[in-house]
Amino acid sequence: MIILGIESTCDETGVGIVRDGREILANVVASSASMHQKYGGIVPEVAAREQIRSMIPVISEVLQVSGFRYKDLDAIAVANGPGLVGSLLVGVETANTLALVWDKPLIAVNHLVAHVYANWIGDNSPPKFPLIALIVSGGHTDLIMMTDHNKYRWLGGTLDDAAGEAFDKVARVLGLGYPGGPAVEKIALNFELRTSNFKLKFPRPMINEDNFDFSFSGLKTSVVNLVHSSSFLRQGKQLTVDSKSKIAFEFQNAICDVLVTKTLRAAKKYNVKSIVVGGGVSANTFLKEKMVDDGKKFNFEVFFPPKNLSVDNGAMIAAAAFYFQNTSGKNFPEKPLSVSANPGLYF
Ligand code: KG4
Ligand code: ZN
Repeated sequence: MIILGIESTCDETGVGIVRDGREILANVVASSASMHQKYGGIVPEVAAREQIRSMIPVISEVLQVSGFRYKDLDAIAVANGPGLVGSLLVGVETANTLALVWDKPLIAVNHLVAHVYANWIGDNSPPKFPLIALIVSGGHTDLIMMTDHNKYRWLGGTLDDAAGEAFDKVARVLGLGYPGGPAVEKIALNFELRTSNFKLKFPRPMINEDNFDFSFSGLKTSVVNLVHSSSFLRQGKQLTVDSKSKIAFEFQNAICDVLVTKTLRAAKKYNVKSIVVGGGVSANTFLKEKMVDDGKKFNFEVFFPPKNLSVDNGAMIAAAAFYFQNTSGKNFPEKPLSVSANPGLYF
């Protein structure tokens, strides 16, 4: 089954064509991130306007790259939430219209679930059920258990900032620009733990609490307070590169410590086979190495998508749609023009 998936929940316009949920035939992402850089975060109006401009060219490009014509597609899939309403409307109304004029079935996909399904794409053997999935993106941090396709149980999530949001805010206070996650990861690499007289330690909020919730706003505030109050980190008025890399390293260490500890605790409690991570923050190599190393100690198989499928993209929407379609027992559930944008969609 060949599905065209459309992703436009935040600032990306992503379209992918995927065969049987696993084989990418084309995957193109247009991002408006550079337009948000001067504001240090996403401006919803700007994002939606750019998505309107990019959507049709990106769809044309994936058809061209894959060598398919629209007649070859079996279905259209679209992420209908959660996300920014203006951005969602661009993808959803495009999908409704294409399904109508191309006479194709339409499948609505939860963006968060699609981040999990990014781990099914590719040749390697896929995750096994039951599994614990950690979803870490710019807007969400959630732990869910899946006993099978379409069978989710939400275990916990962030009480305040999402993990990606904390990375973005720390990047901003360190003057590293937007998006923050890759910038924090990059500058943290400069820091040499072995050669440093390293005294900095940030809190690990809720790490010892017997639940699967998270809180990152206190950690973020610790970073902000340190940056604003410490003259020893500066040369003149400017933070030194060494101070920035030290702070970035310890912030990343603290947030990953909490994410890995709580995910492993859930995996042990529910005695699962696999741990699956998805969402933009799963592009972080430090998080991946820590989760894989610690997971191995308890015989969990740990899955991370390749970096280009960690961040928002259309292929993951098509993959999730395939598994939903094949296992829900529903025969192509949505009629053209029947999908609506749902900014608050959850599990
Ligand atoms: O899933 P995603 O692409 O969009 C949302 O659904 O929100 O996630 C974007 C988030 C941003 O906060 C970005 O800073 C973060 O993922 N991110 C990273 C890395 N790459 C992207 N965070 C940490 N390390 C990275 N390498
Ligand atoms: Zn996302």
